[in-house]
Amino acid sequence: MSRALFAALMATIGMTMPAAAKTPFDGVWLFDKAPPTPGVTMMEVRSKGAKIEGRVTTLWYGPVEMLNPRIEGGKLLFEARNINDRDHPTRNWSVSLTDGKPHLEGQIWESPIAIDGYRGTARDAKARAFKFAALPPLGRPIPGKLAATPPMGWSSWNKFAEHIDDRTVRAMADAMVSTGLRDAGYRYINIDDGWQGKRDANGVLQPNAKFPDMKALADYVHSKGLKIGIYSSQGPRTCAGYEGSYGHVAQDAKSFADWGFDYLKYDLCSGEWFYADADTVQRSYHEMGAALQATGREMIFSLCEYGRFDVGRWGRDVGGQLWRTTGDITDDYPTMAKIGFDRNGDPALAGPHGWNDPDMLEVGNGGMSADEYRTHMTLWAMSAAPLMMGHDLRETSPETLAMLTNRRVIAIDQDARGVQGKAVRKQGALEVWAKPLADGRVALALFNRGGASAALTLTAADAGLSSIAQVEDQWSGATMAALPASYAVPARGAVMIVVKGQ
Ligand code: GLA
Repeated sequence: MSRALFAALMATIGMTMPAAAKTPFDGVWLFDKAPPTPGVTMMEVRSKGAKIEGRVTTLWYGPVEMLNPRIEGGKLLFEARNINDRDHPTRNWSVSLTDGKPHLEGQIWESPIAIDGYRGTARDAKARAFKFAALPPLGRPIPGKLAATPPMGWSSWNKFAEHIDDRTVRAMADAMVSTGLRDAGYRYINIDDGWQGKRDANGVLQPNAKFPDMKALADYVHSKGLKIGIYSSQGPRTCAGYEGSYGHVAQDAKSFADWGFDYLKYDLCSGEWFYADADTVQRSYHEMGAALQATGREMIFSLCEYGRFDVGRWGRDVGGQLWRTTGDITDDYPTMAKIGFDRNGDPALAGPHGWNDPDMLEVGNGGMSADEYRTHMTLWAMSAAPLMMGHDLRETSPETLAMLTNRRVIAIDQDARGVQGKAVRKQGALEVWAKPLADGRVALALFNRGGASAALTLTAADAGLSSIAQVEDQWSGATMAALPASYAVPARGAVMIVVKGQ
């Protein structure tokens, strides 16, 4: 019998069910400005029998689930994910209650936090969170003319996170040229989070001491025949806790243009608290898209809001040329595969001037085997994904270089027709993907997501063709007149070919 039915029966005979015991921590708790987080931190706790659940919402991260919440020694203990603090991916938190008042202790970045709170509601939290300026209404669609093919380049985040400076960026530009990566098509040198300093008295954002002269840096990168990108966030703080563009959108767009930047990656961090629905997120991205356009400088606009609110449907209209479809990649096969196979965005929404972005490359960072990295590259190329390298370019091994500069593989990614390939057949751990190309040929990829090598037979029908006249292996360059009887695909590996119909 269900609990509801049982309760109804008890009620008819005039009895009530004993309420399920709650912990004293159940409910919504607010903590005002726990430095370094601006605004209110909200903690929500619910218990059901012995099971406790909860989440903590800050201006930086929006809601973060409590991991392993439990009561020990009268305190509520839990861990919380700290997505952008590489050195401490999770932190321990504890809450004690004295006379019904909560006391929260933990750590954000370098700052230990110990703060008293009070009972409240989500509504109170929002009202106190921030005195923020009204967003402009959604403006007209911004016409996109950049990125006819998916952008290619390098970004600092995957390898360096916040440990980035002027010297390293220049060294990456040098290495981009000396390795031949520039000539293979990689053009953007993108500074991700961690360059920002404080705003001056007029509100103009200054770089921090590690970037003494942004304009000189941009000039240097340009002098190498490369383009340069920068990063900001729509909230008051970026994901790594630096100054965001909140309240300074036009001013920041102008600085980026004046310094000579060609690309902006715009994150959602700390905007999540008040830009919490499709409408406000879209308006906020449009606000920056329009501000970039108003500068008169051509800048690629990269939307980084992890694929929320169906961004592929409106990314172009806010001036975006690429939009992330997922949370952050990490340098391991399970995460890369989850993103690349299953969270790479709707192919119907991608095409010239607007691309699904399953996040930056990890090739060369060392966390995956050669077969796994080949799968990574093959998936990104088949998906017409932006190819933003994420390793230290100075330490590009010959094997990594060969993988990143394979002209045939890059050509699949950069094909002018701009079709995002997709799975046409799945068989156990095996997947066959197809991507039609501008010249009428079809790229086919075979992926083996399993842990043991497997054989698979391809047919002309996989490519949507009635017969096949030529087969070219994209990784080796070998050509054949017909499909072989079968392909052996290594565990977690991939094969990529291009076929031509009769
Ligand atoms: C978010 C983004 C990452 C990176 C970091 C920087 O997590 O998704 O790609 O830009 O912020 O803090």
